[in-house]
Order: sequence, then structure tokens, then C-alpha cells
Amino acid sequence: MSTPVTERRLTVRDIRKGRGPFVWLTAYTTPIARLLDLHTDLLLVGDSLGMVLYGMASTVPVTLDMMIAHGAAVMRGSKHACVMVDMPFGSYQESPQLAFRNAARILAETGCAAVKLEGGVEMAETIRFLTERGIPVCGHIGLMPQAVNASGFRAQGRTAEEAARITADAKAVAASGAFAMVIEGTYRSLAAAITQSVPIPTIGIGASPDCDGQVLVVDDMVGLFTDFTPRFVKRYAELGATVSQAVQAYAHDVRARTFPGPEHCFDDPPKEPPTRT
Ligand code: KIV
Repeated sequence: MSTPVTERRLTVRDIRKGRGPFVWLTAYTTPIARLLDLHTDLLLVGDSLGMVLYGMASTVPVTLDMMIAHGAAVMRGSKHACVMVDMPFGSYQESPQLAFRNAARILAETGCAAVKLEGGVEMAETIRFLTERGIPVCGHIGLMPQAVNASGFRAQGRTAEEAARITADAKAVAASGAFAMVIEGTYRSLAAAITQSVPIPTIGIGASPDCDGQVLVVDDMVGLFTDFTPRFVKRYAELGATVSQAVQAYAHDVRARTFPGPEHCFDDPPKEPPTRT
């Protein structure tokens, strides 16, 4: 069932030709990439890093330079998983040409395999422009966090009209050459129906177990980001609480002068014999 661990790094072709279930997670740093690499098929350097790492209120202020720096860090920490970097808000919407210049910078300066961008029908021309020029693209439809100012953070596809729009988005993304698409925050049956109807893998987040794979923000699933926890997140660990307990214990030891102990100190060097003068 799972993608086999290969001697080489997985590629977008491995993902495009498979039907999963694919295991995707976000990663933003080298040490986290090292921990996730062998267990995942794809590491997404998501623009969620703006909120998760930098404390921003949304992903809108994230810059291309931030994405490139974190993309390069994740590449340094991984050998097995395919690595993909999000195109941040403002780096691709204006024109296919601008999108190409910025996507080319991401690929060249990080060494990653692909970019992801949000949008459906309205982004189809841009996705086609990039894919026809050698830039693998993953689509992202349904709830689109970069559009928070227009549509908020609510589940998508409530009305028949919304469901039809998201289905049209999925078809447009697939037809324009994307190798996969993320479906975020949509009703389960809609995500399942889209998965049946498109020829490329669908990766769900708050979508459906019927998608061809799942993605989560790793900090959400291990309890490191606790500002808010969306309904679709399952907590597999409580690392935030573990870190907090560790820091409390350290603070106690420093104040009680029980840290550092003798085992943490360098012993004094042996005394040199007195020299005659
Ligand atoms: O930015 C991100 O982390 C994402 C995932 C939520 C899919 O786009």
C-alpha cells in the first residue's frame, strides 16, 4: 500500500503515477525534515510557516525569500521524500510570466522538485504556463488560506453552487498539467467525488479519507502549534506540553543551583609542578 522506500529521492513522477495512499507533511526546518524524511512521500514547505513559525495572523505576509530559505533548509535535511515549496501570496497571481520567474527562483535556489499554488479555474492558465516550461505544479483548491480576506477560513462546498465551482476548479487544475492537487476544508462527499473524477492524485486536509493521500501541518499534529486546532487535525503527540515541562524543570534547577552538575562541568586541569627559577 505504501510508497516503497527507494535508494533515490521520490519524484513528482512517482506521485503522479501512483494512487497512494500518499503521506505528506509540512516541514520548515532541517531538523524536522530529518525526522520526517523516511516516513513521508512528500515534504511540503508550506506558507503556513508564516503563522506557525513567525506568529503572523495569516499566510498573506509571507515572502518569496522566506519560502526559499526554508525550502533550502528542508532540502538539506532530507534524502528520501520529494520536496515541494509553496508559492507565497503575490508571487504568482499577477501573470503567468511573474509566476514562472518566481517558481524558477524557488526551484533553482532550493533544489526542490515542485511548487504548489492556490487557485482553480482562474489559475489554470498559469499552471499550464509553468508545467509546459518544466516546472512541476501541485494545485490547491477548496479552502484557500491566501484568500482569507475574501472568503475566510470556513469549510467550502456547502451549497450546490459552491460544490460545482470547486469541482470545476479540480477539473481545470488537472487539465492544465498539475501532477497532484491538495483539497482543503471541503465536505467529505465532494472531495471523494472529485477524487473519482480527476486523473491525478488528490491529497486531502480536512477533506476525505477517500482522497489519494493526506497532508497535515506537522506542528499541529505533534502539539507544537496550539494557538488553534482545526477540527480536521488529529493530535499524535503533545510536544508543546513536553517542552513546557522540560523548561520548567530547567528553570527550577538553575534557580536551585543544581544545574550544571559535576558531570556537566569541565574538571580543573591537573596542577602543573612548580618550576625552579
Ligand atoms: O501551507 C500549508 O501548510 C499548506 C497545507 C495546509 C496544505 O498549504
